[in-house]
Amino acid sequence: MIRNINFQSSMIRKMTVLAEKYNAINLAQGFPEHTKTEIINMAVRSIRDDHNQYTVTDGLPILRKKIAEKLKVERGIDISYENLIITCGASEAIMAAVIGNVSSNANVVIIEPAYENYIPAVKLVNANIKTIALTHNILNLKELENSFSVGSFLMLNTPHNPTGKVFSYDELSNIAKIIKEREGYVIVDETYEYLIYSKKHYSIASFDGMLERAITVGSFSKTYSITGWRLGYVYGKDKLMNNVRNVHDYLTICAPAPFQYAALEMLDLPEKYYKDFVESYKIRRNFISKEIKSLGFTFNIPDGAYYIFAELPKRIKSNDMEFCMDLVKNAGVALVPGSSFYNLDGGNRFVRFSFSKEIYSLKKAMKRLKAYLK
Ligand SMILES: Cc1ncc(COP(=O)(O)O)c(C=O)c1O
Repeated sequence: MIRNINFQSSMIRKMTVLAEKYNAINLAQGFPEHTKTEIINMAVRSIRDDHNQYTVTDGLPILRKKIAEKLKVERGIDISYENLIITCGASEAIMAAVIGNVSSNANVVIIEPAYENYIPAVKLVNANIKTIALTHNILNLKELENSFSVGSFLMLNTPHNPTGKVFSYDELSNIAKIIKEREGYVIVDETYEYLIYSKKHYSIASFDGMLERAITVGSFSKTYSITGWRLGYVYGKDKLMNNVRNVHDYLTICAPAPFQYAALEMLDLPEKYYKDFVESYKIRRNFISKEIKSLGFTFNIPDGAYYIFAELPKRIKSNDMEFCMDLVKNAGVALVPGSSFYNLDGGNRFVRFSFSKEIYSLKKAMKRLKAYLK
């Protein structure tokens, strides 16, 4: 019998298709317009050097060792490279972490709004979804405590997509306490760990007693503007990682080999690269925040990542879906309807703006949005 999969295809990706159809500026899906020439050259060199065949399933040992070393220096996390796997993006890592470790009778707590991929992953394994709300960017710990039964999993994302929230040290400490008390686990998505404008990024795996309870996912996509290369990684402790490895092995065999070699070089980029990267997005964040605020959208200014989750101005009577569909068709600007970040209800007065595009594209998009809202 054919299985009945009970979730829709991604609204983020659908909006990209519509953006192409209507020749709209794509502020929906989070990807940049360009990659730095020096990074392109790393991949070109790698292909020319004939690194074009499968690597071992876990990924190049030398790359895994380099990432493990970085984790030790930057986050104080002591993990053997043997417990770190290179994946086809954070997306595959999240899927493999859930499929490999979450049993069908487990409870999985999801903080809403949530990045679109988490709910389908949990639905694929038929586990129970419990949602809790991030209201005005505040996580209600009592609510987490109440929904997190013994042996539950939490899907955590910091810096957070779509709100740009960066979870503080104290918040993560409190979350860790609940997870340990209930002998649960966390799958933490740190895709935007290097895109922080204010505050500091902390990995929950670095908190006392949490390395055994965390599966941490990282990505090269956003930090190096290479979302199409499909390169990410995942690490954790033995049993959890054995389960991830088994799924990864049969799902993809390995991440793209030439890009793994290129990643070796990327990890040697100087500190200045990361500073310039953040600075260039800060300019875009400030620009778009000012523009949409003047149009009546309300939102928290993001501390990290490259999204703004904004409430529609009161004078707009249509819901998120109607607004986004009309906007892409008639104004040539693609956004993501807020309800895409919720399992059942919620978000229908919100839209997500991505400011991953170049400043000239953002300026053009804002001009179109202003004209449309006049
Ligand atoms: C929070 C979050 N996690 C994961 C991903 C997917 O990342 P990757 O390209 O590494 O698969 C994205 C992409 O937008 C994201 O926003």
